[in-house]
Amino acid sequence: MSIQAVSVQDQIIASLEIAAEKCGDISPAVYERYFEKSPGSEELMVQIDHLVRGKMLDEIMRLLMTEDYSMEDEYLTFEMKTHEEAYSVIKSMYGSLLHSVWEILREGIGGEWTDGFEYAWDKRIQALELAIENHSPSHQIMLGESNE
Ligand code: HEM
Repeated sequence: MSIQAVSVQDQIIASLEIAAEKCGDISPAVYERYFEKSPGSEELMVQIDHLVRGKMLDEIMRLLMTEDYSMEDEYLTFEMKTHEEAYSVIKSMYGSLLHSVWEILREGIGGEWTDGFEYAWDKRIQALELAIENHSPSHQIMLGESNE
């Protein structure tokens, strides 16, 4: 079967079903990988306990399972504003976190990871990164200025 014959959404769901069986709680491994990749992130999250970290990762997984980010307009506007303005999160941190999830799942799934999964995760993470970028407050300001 060709990669495109199965939708990105189906591939994402299929990979997560395997991960649920094989990987257990990915949260500690994801944050460990993320802190290695993204200077400054561990300092931002050092006071944040595993429950809040877990809830944040649940939301990220929900977004990764979402096909259409136009339905998440309000949510993304709220979270990106809070993250940038109240928690001092910078843009490059989102990509590092999403890529950490991708890597930990790929490694956890091991030999059952397929080219179709790789293709789907690449597409989905690109789409989510773009949606985050479009909802970041600094992007909104740039749009506002260019319209004047
Ligand atoms: C798609 C990306 C992200 C989503 C959807 C997201 C979502 C969330 C949510 C829902 C919470 C609140 C959890 C709760 O208290 O119930 C949270 C908290 C937090 N997030 Fe994120 N997050 C994202 C990326 C990031 C990144 C890249 C950082 C960088 C370090 C970050 C830093 C924080 C911090 C520091 C808190 C805790 C704030 C506090 O309780 O004082 N987040 N996030």
